[in-house]
Amino acid sequence: MKEIKIVTSFKVYEQLTDLPEAVFSLMQVAIQARNAAYAPYSQFNVGAALRLDNGEIVIGNNQENAAYPSGLCAERVAIYQAGAKYPNAKIVEMAITATSQKHKVTDPIPPCGACRQSIAEYEIRQEQPIAIYFMGEEGKILKSDSLSDLLPLTFQKSHL
Ligand code: THU
Repeated sequence: MKEIKIVTSFKVYEQLTDLPEAVFSLMQVAIQARNAAYAPYSQFNVGAALRLDNGEIVIGNNQENAAYPSGLCAERVAIYQAGAKYPNAKIVEMAITATSQKHKVTDPIPPCGACRQSIAEYEIRQEQPIAIYFMGEEGKILKSDSLSDLLPLTFQKSHL
């Protein structure tokens, strides 16, 4: 028996103003998207903004539904929109922010498992890492240099 050890590291920015300028602007777009989320059931608003290598910014926010599982997370709304609109562009980075209508969100909110799997598909397809920056509504911002750091041992098309 041998053991495989997977080490992951994240960068931590103490506040929004510590972010590189382009990421700060991307996070502002994610905040705007977050505020327009349709989340009447969870009252948990999430916004995502993607910067593509063609210079375009694509947004997403969570879209809920009375039939709960029919709703979709902000991150997937964003990447599917990017895939639909700019199929040949690469996703350079993604900014994510979340807020609650019930309490203050100070923890950085990472993408859920299903979103990680969905983003991984795009990262593998484009053969270039996607940097992920995520935060709550205030406080620290965490950066993952690649989606693969959030989802090691990814199930992918080469396994089919
Ligand atoms: N949500 C997201 O938009 N992204 C995530 O990664 C986690 C959860 C949404 C889904 C649902 O509308 C609400 O947050 C509560 O789970």
